[in-house]
Amino acid sequence: MRDTYANAQPMSAPWWSRALFYQVYPRSFYDSNGDGLGDLDGVTAKLDYLKALGVDAIWLNPVMVSPMADHGYDVADPRDVDPMFGGIEALDRLTDAAHAAGIKVTMDLVPNHTSSAHPWFQAALAAGPGSEERDRYIFRDGTGPGGVRPPNNWVSIFGGPAWTRVVEADGSPGQWYLHLFDAAQPDLNWDNPEVFDDLEKTLRFWLKRGIDGFRIDVAHGMAKPPGLPDMEVIKGEVLLADMDDDPRFNNDGVHDIHRQIRRVFNDYPDAVAIGEVWVYDNEQFARYVRPDELHLGFNFRLLRAKFDADDIRGAIANSMEAAELVDATPTWTLANHDVDREPTRYGDGAVGLARARAMMMAMLALPGAVFVYNGEELGLPNVELPDEALRDPVWERSGRTRRGRDAARVPVPWQGDGPPFGFSDNPDTWLPLPADWAALTVEKQINDPASMLSFYRTAIELRRDRSEFDGKSIEWLDSPSDTLAFRRSGGLVCVLNAGTRTIPLPVGEVLLASAELIDGKLPPDTAAWLV
Ligand code: NOJ
Repeated sequence: MRDTYANAQPMSAPWWSRALFYQVYPRSFYDSNGDGLGDLDGVTAKLDYLKALGVDAIWLNPVMVSPMADHGYDVADPRDVDPMFGGIEALDRLTDAAHAAGIKVTMDLVPNHTSSAHPWFQAALAAGPGSEERDRYIFRDGTGPGGVRPPNNWVSIFGGPAWTRVVEADGSPGQWYLHLFDAAQPDLNWDNPEVFDDLEKTLRFWLKRGIDGFRIDVAHGMAKPPGLPDMEVIKGEVLLADMDDDPRFNNDGVHDIHRQIRRVFNDYPDAVAIGEVWVYDNEQFARYVRPDELHLGFNFRLLRAKFDADDIRGAIANSMEAAELVDATPTWTLANHDVDREPTRYGDGAVGLARARAMMMAMLALPGAVFVYNGEELGLPNVELPDEALRDPVWERSGRTRRGRDAARVPVPWQGDGPPFGFSDNPDTWLPLPADWAALTVEKQINDPASMLSFYRTAIELRRDRSEFDGKSIEWLDSPSDTLAFRRSGGLVCVLNAGTRTIPLPVGEVLLASAELIDGKLPPDTAAWLV
């Protein structure tokens, strides 16, 4: 049976080629058991909401067993679900119910590193220098007298050094291990074949269990530059979004790893591999989505664009070009758990929200797969959290100089007039919800035709049902300065006004606009769809 699958080509376009993925940050979505943390039964409980929103697939941030030093991106057992999220039975319940509702379930996979609590790392600590156990990670002797200095000058993405020194079994100061992220996330040595063998086990474990695919964390990482040379540390800190010029990422060897991963996926032809690829050069990006590598790669250009017509147009044109280079499916996203939320990024308050609505229309007008981050459909902004509430490891590792990503991870407000707005029965939620979110709850928005939620639902429905949203290409149309306009090959026209003056719209029937038109014209910070 497997062999027939292996060479099977999908007859029609695969499900993910125009899917709307909804990213659930599980600890912030819905708490079903009153411990103040969201969980998987909480996601199951809200499937009707997701169905009504029109999502095709869920992407779950990591739910595997983890000490949660980086909220699940530090995996101690990749083939089980953390009890905090309800254990593996809760995932089975979610998958069954989601499939019954016609929704796919994809999970996060973390191949670049493990938790320091992973049995492999514990064995590596116990076994000592030169052992097979240490060879699964990146252990090196230090430099300088007595090895007191780290092996090279690399800094962690989260702040501080990227190396931590261990104490050997006899109590003496020992070797150093590499961790590009938190010290509790040791990097794996991808030159060791055991590392892929174990990942293959993990992939098959979940795919056989009915998982529909994976979002692959740091998919441009894994392969390290030979010899681990010093790097130019420009700012003393690096951000996930700045990885483009970072010599530790996007090394050639990573493509062999993706080919190995793809061979496993080929046994499950309906499953999708989606890489987190912080690479901006079009040709470099395209290499990740060649036919024998990932099915999809997150292109972060649109997310990085300012609310500026040239910037947005450039982001769209480059993302399209990168995909076209290898006939891949383009992907679009405006937000995730690592970046500031759109209304905050685009200018805050009413203006920020208006621009977020307009950007969402531009995104949904484009061919390919889109990714919506939970709460985006409610227009949630960042939350200014007090120091003592911060939970992101970035805060401590940066010596409390960078606040980290918690502001964009605050739980979803469902109902009621005060925190925690129905997210949990427990007032003590893992991050506090702000009192001024009373007007942003699902309950308040769901029956208000003018709300962000109603607008999102309408837009998603149009994208799904109207034939004008067909077609793989777009054509740029002339438009006044500070605006952009494109026509999808299926016929949809999208116009976005990022300027300061109201502009006339092209001839056609207006399907949807992100704000009221003024005498039939498009005001600033607004987008419209026409057919
Ligand atoms: C990218 C993830 O999106 C982020 O949340 C995480 O901290 C790092 N990878 C490390 O796994």
